[in-house]
Amino acid sequence: MNTNPERPPPVPVPELLKGQKALVTGANSGIGKATAIALGRAGADVVVNYASDRPAAEAVVTEIRSHGVHSYAHQADVSQEDQVTDLVSTMVDRLGTIDVLVANAGLQRDAPTVEMTLEQWEKVISVNLTGQFLCAREAIKEFLRRGVVPEVSRAAGKIICMSSVHQIIPWAGHVNYASSKGGVAMLTQTLAQEFAPQKIRVNAIAPGAIKTPINRSAWQTPEARTALLELIPYRRIGDPLDIANAAVVLASDLCDYVVGTTIYVDGGMTLFPGFATGG
Ligand code: BGC
Repeated sequence: MNTNPERPPPVPVPELLKGQKALVTGANSGIGKATAIALGRAGADVVVNYASDRPAAEAVVTEIRSHGVHSYAHQADVSQEDQVTDLVSTMVDRLGTIDVLVANAGLQRDAPTVEMTLEQWEKVISVNLTGQFLCAREAIKEFLRRGVVPEVSRAAGKIICMSSVHQIIPWAGHVNYASSKGGVAMLTQTLAQEFAPQKIRVNAIAPGAIKTPINRSAWQTPEARTALLELIPYRRIGDPLDIANAAVVLASDLCDYVVGTTIYVDGGMTLFPGFATGG
């Protein structure tokens, strides 16, 4: 039994994605890492994309392989078109196809707006938004080429765009990041609308405050942690496994009728917590 109140139990469905081929971008740490491992645990072969830190990516690969599935690491910067093309075509060569894309790679370059450089703006938009567009485009080409294989899945392909609660919560001091995630919301819906007739399911997961390196300053000190918990009605900081579990189920045929939506996995952060006592 899982007795740690801070950590969710993993989805107990090892066969849910059996035989499927999954690509997770930014899978060497945080949410991407947990998701890649969870997909492997659910029976998928998994490509672990990373931008830097090969040893970390290789450790994820080792853990995925321990579940008896194939896995390898592939370095690529998702904001670079040629690298994304190579990432997906190599996967098709090595694993035969792609069934699931988790477009997860993302970063923050925070600054007050008047101090934000164009470089900070463009870096975040190019990785968080353009990177998801490029990966989705390449995956969709292969989904369309292959079509539905009923023994594998009812869909021709599944894309999960990793968004954020900041696709709807404005975030002062993070205009580049919030704008990128607002863009991801519309990327998700537009792709979903465009390709649903071809049986491609595009959805997003919007994590709230998940304990990862990206937001260390928000949970590292007791004061920061207390302030953060005020924003979370469920009163616990999220674990990467909270997102990974949702991704496994969303990628599976259990969610075959879920098309073009965002699943908020945020402990209630989007419920306007200030209004619990105010207003
Ligand atoms: C950001 C985190 C932040 C969380 C909730 C995420 O998308 O990457 O830094 O803690 O949203 O505000």
